[in-house]
Amino acid sequence: MGVQPPASISLESSRLQRVHTDLLRWYEEQGRRLPWRQTRDPYAILVAEMMLQQTQVDRVMPKYAAFLAAFPTLAALAAASRGEVIRQWAGLGYNRRAVYLHRIAQQVVADHNGKLPTDPATLRTLPGIGRYTAAAVACFAAETPVAVLDTNVRRVLGRVFLDAWFSDDEPTETPPERTGWLLAEAALPQRSAYAWNQALMDLGATVCTAARPACRVCPLAQVCAYRRRRLATTALGPLFGRAESEAPVRQAAEVAGEYRADVNDDAGSAPKSEPFQGSRRWYRGRILASLRPLVPGETMTLTRLGPQLRDDFAPDHVEWLADLLLALVNDGLVECHGDLRDADKDALAAVEVALPA
Ligand code: ADE
Repeated sequence: MGVQPPASISLESSRLQRVHTDLLRWYEEQGRRLPWRQTRDPYAILVAEMMLQQTQVDRVMPKYAAFLAAFPTLAALAAASRGEVIRQWAGLGYNRRAVYLHRIAQQVVADHNGKLPTDPATLRTLPGIGRYTAAAVACFAAETPVAVLDTNVRRVLGRVFLDAWFSDDEPTETPPERTGWLLAEAALPQRSAYAWNQALMDLGATVCTAARPACRVCPLAQVCAYRRRRLATTALGPLFGRAESEAPVRQAAEVAGEYRADVNDDAGSAPKSEPFQGSRRWYRGRILASLRPLVPGETMTLTRLGPQLRDDFAPDHVEWLADLLLALVNDGLVECHGDLRDADKDALAAVEVALPA
């Protein structure tokens, strides 16, 4: 029996207030000082949030700085070639985000006088911007009090407020997305929305992790429904009990620091993991890695590209390679000279490809 999502959510106000106070105090004392929290520039925040959607914080950090050094303003990004942006995206994965960022910059120059909007509705008219990114830019750039929901926030709020609502035969802690948004809206403090949203992300990444929640050092332990259930039942005890009882007893802050070192952000809409070797995603990454070193104007034939992707590359693999390249062309990540649908294998092998100019 599935659990029906609620049509609306209202939270008890004294409990909510306590959660606000405790989490905001924790964030003030222990929140991470991340570079995108030192700015209110909507463009810089958009760059950060696009990167953070599918890539972990520690990996994003150096790339964020390098990207902003290469394209310090939205106008600079819009003026760059798409290929340059894709080159600069190296190491972040999910390269379509680079194409979207570039398109966003060009559209903002064309339609918004080069000024990135900060209201969620206008942001959502831009390519590749969904509810999450629109809310994140509105809140983190303009401090607009809107709810921001990624996987981490959804799990944290689900645990703190809704745990008891889920039935025992369906013990999921993370509510469905729609419920997550309702909950995030119901829980949002009208003041301090910026700190609240950033705090939820930090708590989810460093303390209230998916696999090993560190309730011992959690600022919300006293008010958390999930924590209460786990203390009351033994059904989920083994994992939880071990994590708790074997943790060395230390100053809370010290233990939290350890967890922080082992950052486990599984937030965002897609996994932040490496692609499996041999998967399509893996080969897509390898193709772009082979094309990035080409100087602008230079191209590469499939015959030359193939052996860079796999040691066993044989003429028979050329159709497989053309199929991968077609998808990359469709995504705006690759340009080709010649017909990647050509039925003739020799003709396919001679098609020239490159990053977009
Ligand atoms: N993940 C997504 N957005 C984030 C942010 N602003 N800070 C930390 N982690 C994030």
